[in-house]
Amino acid sequence: MSDLMRAIEISEPGGPDVLRPCEQPIPTPGAGEVLIKVAYAGVNRPDALQRAGLYRPPASASPLPGLEAAGTIAAVGPNVTDWKEGDAVCALLPGGGYAEYVLTPAAHCLPVPEGMGLREAACLPETFFTVWSNVFDRGGLQAGERFLVHGGSSGIGTTAIQLANALGARVFATAGSAEKCAVCLQLGAEQAVNYREADFVEVLKAEGGANLILDMVGGDYLPRNVKALATEGRLVQIGFLQGPKVELNFAQVMLRRLTITGSTLRPQSDLAKAKIAEALLEKVWPLLEAGRIAPVMDSEFGLEDAAKAHAHMEGGAHIGKIVLKV
Ligand SMILES: NC(=O)c1ccc[n+]([C@@H]2O[C@H](COP(=O)([O-])OP(=O)(O)OC[C@H]3O[C@@H](n4cnc5c(N)ncnc54)[C@H](OP(=O)(O)O)[C@@H]3O)[C@@H](O)[C@H]2O)c1
Repeated sequence: MSDLMRAIEISEPGGPDVLRPCEQPIPTPGAGEVLIKVAYAGVNRPDALQRAGLYRPPASASPLPGLEAAGTIAAVGPNVTDWKEGDAVCALLPGGGYAEYVLTPAAHCLPVPEGMGLREAACLPETFFTVWSNVFDRGGLQAGERFLVHGGSSGIGTTAIQLANALGARVFATAGSAEKCAVCLQLGAEQAVNYREADFVEVLKAEGGANLILDMVGGDYLPRNVKALATEGRLVQIGFLQGPKVELNFAQVMLRRLTITGSTLRPQSDLAKAKIAEALLEKVWPLLEAGRIAPVMDSEFGLEDAAKAHAHMEGGAHIGKIVLKV
């Protein structure tokens, strides 16, 4: 085996074209880590933010983009007992997924769900870790509650609709076209609001308000989300596609006992991520293996075409997940 691997680097902060093929040394797993031979790598919006220079990777992470992948274990570091060479896994990564090989903590790997290919499995970790920890752990969604997710046709949105529906919540989604709304309904949303034509605040208020909102849009959605929440409702913020700064009347938070919270996955501790992996294996992997939920696949690009994949994602016409074949 050569000591070098093909990878995609961010040559400088900028648009999709700054993603360039390169050669890098194959990394060596340290204690508690595994080396994965990547078959497919998932493409996520945070990769585009990192490429644009708006999302610095943690100091200990690979500077290469890529937060999730599926493939086979190529080597294990000291103290790894759960995995052995040749095991098929999908994994949450600290970075570096756009490459032939990548390192990650062994505890952030999950088995490829029975009956699923590596292509689909590569699209699970980033959105399933994010949705589980924000909607169920942080947001405390319960069966029967009204749940609103914005960006319903995104990687995050398609995951959130399916999981919340499978676990018994009433799901409402927003999306920017009739085609995207139709997909949200197929995935289990009770109502999908085309935000270019209707006001999600009115739709939710007519139902008694949302008990939980998962939002990645921010901007003027913040005050509108507060209006759309039911008494004791919770808002979980996971992104700010329209910006984080806004004027907000906090009296409503006090008077209706609302909770506003949020999180990002990447800077959390290895232990926190390992706990999310354990919960997914117990609660969500059976749903995937029973075929009750599945990642929604948009398109596949070759590793060398990562720039085209990013341009496609930022064009905004995609529905579900984009994947790189390595
Ligand atoms: N906090 C975390 O840990 C975490 C982890 C992963 C992802 N995220 C965030 O979650 C969001 C979704 O990620 P993803 O990978 O699922 O992305 P994605 O598939 O590219 O989805 C972005 C979605 O947002 C909608 N949208 C609404 N307003 C938008 C705007 N002003 N600009 C661009 N898109 C807009 C788009 O659909 P419409 O056509 O319907 O507008 C699109 O479906 C991103 O903000 C990402 O940074 C957060």
